[in-house]
Amino acid sequence: TQPVAFHGEHQAGIVTPAPDRLHFASFDVITKNRADLVDMLKAWTKAARRMTAGQDAGPLGAVAGPGAAPPDDTGEAIGLPAAGLTLTIGFGATLFRTAEGTDRFGLADKKPAGLADLPHFPRDDIDAAISGGDICVQACSYDPQVAVHAIRNLVRIGFGVVTVRWSQLGYGRTSSTSTAQATPRNMLGFKDGTRNMKAEDGPKVLKEQLWVQPGDGPDWMTGGSYLVTRKIRNHIEIWDRTSLDEQEQIIGRHKGTGAPIGEAKEFDEPKLGEKKIADDAHIRLAHPSTHGGAHLLRRGYNFVDGSDGLGRLNAGLFFMAYQRDAHKQFVPIQRMLAQKDPLNEYIKHTSSGLFAIPAGVRDDNDYWGSALF
Ligand code: HEM
Repeated sequence: TQPVAFHGEHQAGIVTPAPDRLHFASFDVITKNRADLVDMLKAWTKAARRMTAGQDAGPLGAVAGPGAAPPDDTGEAIGLPAAGLTLTIGFGATLFRTAEGTDRFGLADKKPAGLADLPHFPRDDIDAAISGGDICVQACSYDPQVAVHAIRNLVRIGFGVVTVRWSQLGYGRTSSTSTAQATPRNMLGFKDGTRNMKAEDGPKVLKEQLWVQPGDGPDWMTGGSYLVTRKIRNHIEIWDRTSLDEQEQIIGRHKGTGAPIGEAKEFDEPKLGEKKIADDAHIRLAHPSTHGGAHLLRRGYNFVDGSDGLGRLNAGLFFMAYQRDAHKQFVPIQRMLAQKDPLNEYIKHTSSGLFAIPAGVRDDNDYWGSALF
């Protein structure tokens, strides 16, 4: 795999093909000093530029520096290629103004309307300790060691400025973001991402649905996107005792081929006008025609976080979706799913995040967040 370009109009890790592994981290900023925060973002950018190119986090690397100092790379990726590593940064609402209303860094005026809190959805069981955060970094790679190494080194560089609020490992992608990729399967055993927004949908669709456009406001977000994260626990033991027919009715697709109910091939159009697909099938409720044409670029990962102490796997979908405006795209779709989706008997949303993902880093002199500070 060739390294994925770090510089560009948009950040990598959104429409670039999703690799198989994820380490997602959300950070709280603990410094009160704006200059320290900006310095850290500059240092992060330098390290991210290097690591996504397959280099050590710092120029001396894990073992070539002075023996009397901690190394500028932690070492566990020595000898490993970048393996498609992308690092994507986002900013949460609390960076601009804390829940108590404090404007710590003089950013309150720059808070996008798009970062207004997500509403509470019916059945939400959100744990605040694994939700939100001031800054997020999504690390994706074909090698889990590379993704974890990247986050770990950002944590190391951020010492004294940020702490990890929560983090999530994902072991298998649940969506394709390019037609060059085969559609993977989620924990329910179904192909996921068949009708996802993809790079090949072309600039018109991506402009309309994915990238923040001039005039959407604020200016610093132009060329960026909004990321919604939802950790969705799957009660797989209950699902596994559900009949195949019922599973297929719930999703609205055949489990083997991924084709819409009544069709033969995965990419056949779902005939929503016909009764074969249940009124409350997931793909009907989530379909753009049900939401004024709203699409999402889904980029989620499967997770298994050990077991829950009650004889069950703590497993599910770490749902991630990018879009131009979460309040016009994710929110209405999720509102309908939360109310009507029969999948709700088998899932529980336990964490939630909304992050403003700025445009790409332009060149060697640019840094993550430069348009904001
Ligand atoms: C489609 C599974 C949660 C939005 C699908 C498909 C599956 C699936 C199997 C069909 C294949 C495809 O076109 O991708 C799941 C599971 C979920 C879940 C197991 C929870 C554990 C969500 C959530 C949202 C969502 C929370 C957004 C709020 C969509 C959309 C589609 C879709 C937009 C495509 C609909 C279409 O255009 O046909 N999902 N999903 N899903 N899902 Fe989900």
